[in-house]
Amino acid sequence: MLIKKCVVLFSGRGSNLKNLLDKHPMLNGKLDYVAAFTNNPEAHGIDICHNYNLDVRIGSHDNLNNDLSNFLMKYQPDLIILAGYMKIIPKNIVNTYRTKIINIHPSVLPKYPGLNTYDKVIENKDKYHGVTIHFVDETLDGGQIILQGIFEINKRYSKSELEDITHKIEHKIYPIAIQWFAEGLITFDNGEFRFKDKVIESPITYLMKNESL
Ligand code: GRF
Repeated sequence: MLIKKCVVLFSGRGSNLKNLLDKHPMLNGKLDYVAAFTNNPEAHGIDICHNYNLDVRIGSHDNLNNDLSNFLMKYQPDLIILAGYMKIIPKNIVNTYRTKIINIHPSVLPKYPGLNTYDKVIENKDKYHGVTIHFVDETLDGGQIILQGIFEINKRYSKSELEDITHKIEHKIYPIAIQWFAEGLITFDNGEFRFKDKVIESPITYLMKNESL
């Protein structure tokens, strides 16, 4: 059996990175995290990499995308996981690794691509919020959606409360999507993403009970 190779890109705290590394055993040896990359020399995620003995490359400020390109060339990953990587992936990299870059975004896309999603949810008094896992194309947070976890906003949450719940959902659903990829349940065939051989026409959505988060 060929073990899939995967790298993780991050910019900050790295809680998703840590959570994925902690849940590596659920991948039953089908996928390995081989290295990580960051643009931020101060990122807490770097300490996480050291603690888990994961090779980490810190891209240089002036030559970031070149460094990223070389990093990817070196590791030849089957999957590139964006876990809070706060830089745009340049077009040439998206093209080279098309269908192999996956991202987690703190909103129910296509609602609120980009930054400051929590402010927008509060401002618009939304009834639901959540998380989207999607493949990356050249549009901002616009690639094929795979999986969403949403919850009902049944009281007035502060921004930090919303952020906290959203992170808990991220930590539940990102490992599931990676497991699906590791098991070969998510595939790309004939220009279309498939889940268990069926074209993904709409995202798989979990409605999470607030009490369970
Ligand atoms: C997460 O909310 C993720 O959705 C967004 O960036 C944040 C990263 O958090 N893309 P962490 O660094 O994994 O804690």
